[in-house]
Amino acid sequence: MKNISILGSTGSIGTSALDVVVAHPDRIRIVALAAGRNLDLIQAQCEQFKPKLVSVSSSEDAALLKKYLSYKPEIMSGPDGLLACAVCSEADTVLAAVVGSAGVASTEAALRSGKRVCQANKESLVVGGELMRAALVHGGGELLPVDSEHAALHQLLADRSPDTIREIRITASGGPFRNWPMKRIIAATREEALNHPTWKMGPKITIDSATLMNKGLEVIEAAVLFGLNASQVRVTIHPQSQVHAMVGFTDGTYQLQVCANDMKLPIQYALLYPERMAGPVPFYDWDTSRMWTFEPPDLERFPCLALAYTALESGGTAPAILNAANEEAVASFLNDSIGLWDIQACIRHTLETEAPVPATDIEAVMEADRCAREIAKKWIGEHAF
Ligand SMILES: NC(=O)c1ccc[n+]([C@@H]2O[C@H](COP(=O)([O-])OP(=O)(O)OC[C@H]3O[C@@H](n4cnc5c(N)ncnc54)[C@H](OP(=O)(O)O)[C@@H]3O)[C@@H](O)[C@H]2O)c1
Repeated sequence: MKNISILGSTGSIGTSALDVVVAHPDRIRIVALAAGRNLDLIQAQCEQFKPKLVSVSSSEDAALLKKYLSYKPEIMSGPDGLLACAVCSEADTVLAAVVGSAGVASTEAALRSGKRVCQANKESLVVGGELMRAALVHGGGELLPVDSEHAALHQLLADRSPDTIREIRITASGGPFRNWPMKRIIAATREEALNHPTWKMGPKITIDSATLMNKGLEVIEAAVLFGLNASQVRVTIHPQSQVHAMVGFTDGTYQLQVCANDMKLPIQYALLYPERMAGPVPFYDWDTSRMWTFEPPDLERFPCLALAYTALESGGTAPAILNAANEEAVASFLNDSIGLWDIQACIRHTLETEAPVPATDIEAVMEADRCAREIAKKWIGEHAF
């Protein structure tokens, strides 16, 4: 029986994970749930799964939850509550599914305490990749990717000797603007950017998918997870989102991983690894005719991807600076303060303004994050509508 703690249980990944839990009542038990502000949903989740430890964003919400729940779990709030759920002694497995760099400290704590960490929160690996690896070594636990491309790579790379690998390729749907001319992308609205063609996800990652920053973050995530350099991690546009990743070997052979585009698959893979069993996703239908296409990304129309490669090559705190500027810019785009094209301009300005330093510890990384946010906010203030 796996005892799991879900950080971000009310989000898109969190709710998909709970569908996986429902499909495997004899294999997975919920012991802790951490959410942000969605009080109605966390209340319903508590009543259904009866976690012993619960966390919400504010102490006011914690008091309300305490009043309304029909049983008496320990209820905490804020960053301390999130951390408590990350290191909860009854949990052997933690699903890190908080969005953004708000998930960095809790992911690091879970790794440091020796849990199996099923990692959806890609920003932690982008912001503090080396620190996460050090925490993993210190804790002696496991780090299993939940991002579909990285879960695919985890399967493709199993037991492969590193000197047989020439490159890895992660696929991208290309997002809603894949075929749009530059002029139209520059003027794209929030609603158009939120209309992802193949995945249903939270708003931040959906905008990241429209700008291809999501793929840029995933390139950095893959480099950290699999110990590769920037030139070995490539991106291929595959609009059907059925092939999730490919590995190219030194002899010119490629292996591809295929499955339906449903996040419950990689979530279940990470939670139950190394076991494989039928879950809540129907088997792939190979008896239906279908067409798959592949094309290279266009870095001129999608400059965020190029910026992510620049940050990866610069190293140190550059990926943390990139991520913080992106989070600020995406939040401002979502609240209609800046346009879509401003996102890349804001990130570029922040990367050019703040010099990266070695990412020696979590303080250095969080300080880089804080400075980058200040620079990005100032830029946004000067360019807001
Ligand atoms: N969605 C996908 O298909 C997908 C695929 C691959 C990777 N990912 C990654 O998985 C992560 C989650 O994505 P998502 O799409 O599930 O995001 P989402 O739907 O926006 O959900 C985010 C979750 O984090 C919680 N949260 C936010 N800030 C918090 C804080 N300060 N303290 C505690 N909880 C907080 C939210 O709580 P409330 O809603 O209660 O406020 C919610 O439960 C991201 O890093 C994303 O890049 C997502």
